[in-house]
Amino acid sequence: MCGIVGYIGKKEAFPILLDGLKKLEYRGYDSAGVALLNDQQSLRVYKAKGKVINLEEKSSGNDLSGTIGIAHTRWATHGEPCEKNAHPHYSSSEEIAIVHNGIIENYQSIKKDLQKEGYNFISETDTEVLVQLIEYTKAKYHLELFPAVQKALTCVIGAYAIAIIDKSHPNTLIAARKSSPLVLGVSDNHEEFYIASDASPLIEYTRNVIYIEDEEIVELSIGKAPRIENLQKESIEHQVNEVSFDIGMIEKGGFPHFMLKEIYDQPDRLNDCMRGRINKELNEIKLSALIDHKDRLINAERIIILGCGTSWHAGLLGKQLIESFARIPVEVEYSSEFRYRNPIISEKDVVIAISQSGETADTIAALKLAKERGAFIFGIVNAIGSSIARIAETGTYIHVGPEIGVASTKAFTGQLNVLTMFALALGYERGSIEKEKYHHLVNELTQIPEKIEKIFAQEEKIQEISKIFTYARNFIYLGRGFNYPVALEGALKLKEISYIHAEGYPAAEMKHGPIALIDEEMPVVVISTKDNVYEKVVSNIQEVSARKGRILAIVTEGDTEIKNMTENIIEVPHVPSELEPLITVIPLQLLSYYIAINKGKDVDQPRNLAKSVTVE
Ligand code: F6R
Repeated sequence: MCGIVGYIGKKEAFPILLDGLKKLEYRGYDSAGVALLNDQQSLRVYKAKGKVINLEEKSSGNDLSGTIGIAHTRWATHGEPCEKNAHPHYSSSEEIAIVHNGIIENYQSIKKDLQKEGYNFISETDTEVLVQLIEYTKAKYHLELFPAVQKALTCVIGAYAIAIIDKSHPNTLIAARKSSPLVLGVSDNHEEFYIASDASPLIEYTRNVIYIEDEEIVELSIGKAPRIENLQKESIEHQVNEVSFDIGMIEKGGFPHFMLKEIYDQPDRLNDCMRGRINKELNEIKLSALIDHKDRLINAERIIILGCGTSWHAGLLGKQLIESFARIPVEVEYSSEFRYRNPIISEKDVVIAISQSGETADTIAALKLAKERGAFIFGIVNAIGSSIARIAETGTYIHVGPEIGVASTKAFTGQLNVLTMFALALGYERGSIEKEKYHHLVNELTQIPEKIEKIFAQEEKIQEISKIFTYARNFIYLGRGFNYPVALEGALKLKEISYIHAEGYPAAEMKHGPIALIDEEMPVVVISTKDNVYEKVVSNIQEVSARKGRILAIVTEGDTEIKNMTENIIEVPHVPSELEPLITVIPLQLLSYYIAINKGKDVDQPRNLAKSVTVE
């Protein structure tokens, strides 16, 4: 995890770095730090425990001059979150400073070897070992910084995105990556360069970016084109890409939190996701991935969906959608399990990877494995140009814009939107869905954004209900069919941001065990909309009520039956059952948001979490 940012140019680096760190804070916020180098070759490091704001406060009044700098926001892996373990780390001589996102797996053995050579270590981190190794390599082989980094990295096992500055190279910033993301921003005439873990810190300054690939090292010097080589010392040319997203999309836009903004963004973002893909006059879907790879996709013998967390929940719904419309068997797996269990994969398999960030380490590893074994890889990703987007042979971006709140909201509905379009279009091509049903569902899908707006009209009511349940210690979420994965997602949202224990179950499973937990203290959130299992879910509500559980029901508007059973009702508009998750998840997102707010929690940056899980 962690976020890194770097700058070399003619401006003062500190404000640029600080601003960049704030944009990357979703990647971790255990500590933050910055290293600055000025033309008098003075190298200074400032660090603070906790969020970037602490670094800002702590470093004020110090010498912050320098037009070259690197900075880091940390999500602790090796060593507790404290100043000593915060990045940047110095080499022994304090000549070189490094920031690092990733994990050096063989750091213990390198550390032992360096200790034998007389090196001492201040921190408990794997990163300090890397900077010492670079200094050692530079001295032992009498190398310049670039070849020393290149050589040192050949000894390293693990993942890294690093940025390095060196007092003895005052016009140079070096960066490298393997399995952790790294984007390079290039200004006109090579006057300035920016590096960062994603494009959000760069876009204010330049739209021209280069995505550095695995095992590549880049040397940046003002006025020169970037020098990029791989670990085998081969020179690499990359095309410059233009990033298109708008700066307003990553600001709060008047909302108190990114999470709330992103919940409210969903109607617009879903329209963005469908734009150019759905012809509203003909009620037809055109996905370029499906057009370009039609034979491979319609002839798939099996589809395997991979993802983690919320993206895995979207995958569970993808299975139901694809099996219903396209009649291709689908398996859904946690990427972290798939990658270590020697899965059986054939060349007729299509593997769909779902990932908001496109950088989740487990999903990347699982995909690489599936690709090696001949599966065709399809990505459903939000972050443009991310690692998963590039590993995939084809795919469909969800186009919901940068998601900053750590708890995923608009990415989930964006993933569902793409999965629904994909399943419908695939079913249509395979002739496994009736024409009329296809056109009807496409039309219904285009109306989802308006229907979500209607749910927002009940925000006050949801806020009131949230107050009743704020101090519960546990929650159960129940749903059936298409709403079972929504129950899982609702429970995950609550756990993540309010730290209340919550579990999701298929409603009918409750009587096989979890019902023992029900008493007057237990809130049970039931998604009980009017679909083919409505009557069954009503019976499940009665079973809970009979044991004095406190029901909060998500119902279809106009429902009177459930209204007689509980006063805690949130109504959602009627939609076909296959599209319901796009609607029923919205009140659950708002409920968890308000419960967390009532408890005074930091909803955008909940404890122990990071937005992009780039470590396994
Ligand atoms: C939950 C959440 C996580 C992510 C998971 C996968 O709100 O955000 O569970 O869904 O870490 O991340 P991506 O989708 O980036 O692969």
